[in-house]
Amino acid sequence: MRLDKYLSESGIFSRSEAGKAIRSGRILVDGTVVKDPSRHIAETASVLCDGKPVFWSKYQYIMLHKPQGYVSATEDKGRTVMDLVPPSCIRLGMFPCGRLDIDTTGLLLITNDGPGAHNWLSPKHHVTKTYRFTCALPLTEDARTRMESGLELGDFTSQPASVSLEDPQNGEITITEGKFHQIKRMFAAVGNEITSLKRVRFGPLTLDETLQPGEWRYLTDEEIHALQAVHS
Ligand code: URA
Repeated sequence: MRLDKYLSESGIFSRSEAGKAIRSGRILVDGTVVKDPSRHIAETASVLCDGKPVFWSKYQYIMLHKPQGYVSATEDKGRTVMDLVPPSCIRLGMFPCGRLDIDTTGLLLITNDGPGAHNWLSPKHHVTKTYRFTCALPLTEDARTRMESGLELGDFTSQPASVSLEDPQNGEITITEGKFHQIKRMFAAVGNEITSLKRVRFGPLTLDETLQPGEWRYLTDEEIHALQAVHS
């Protein structure tokens, strides 16, 4: 592929910035300075910018620790999760994989892997999502049993969830679906109320607790492979 495309798709430059960086001799390909933005290079080439390695890959994957107050969308009249990641993410066509409510915090995957996102969000694949919750009232054994058997929520019946309690009002719930306000609706259906919700796992991914709310990092190769294995 063209060198300027390689650099812009790796997220570090826009296409025109890439052209300038190349022409000014900042880019080394397989040990040689290349000053022609249109030069074709192999996807596997070793590319350095100012001496630092630049990695191209077809898709990019970011783990964001979503804070409260941000909408899980690429565009909205309010603040969106895309305001928390580098501006290049929008240029690269990245989007949040699924939605967390504005007041829900925790693990949100941001990617431009459309086919992957389609698979991970498809009800067919039953990708598990685990949330740490706090509820307003002690969760009764009966309520927990009802959630673990599947609840009638009006427009759908939830699949059996798994619930573990640390104390009567705090615990973890794992669901395999991702319906709108699902967990809040499940708690409401048993006469309770969610007061805090944080996603800590999404399929094989676990929230990196070193990320403070609002911080992000790229997924490791291991995490990407685990995610890709979900639908292989
Ligand atoms: N369930 C909810 O009710 N809200 C979320 O943000 C995620 C799951």
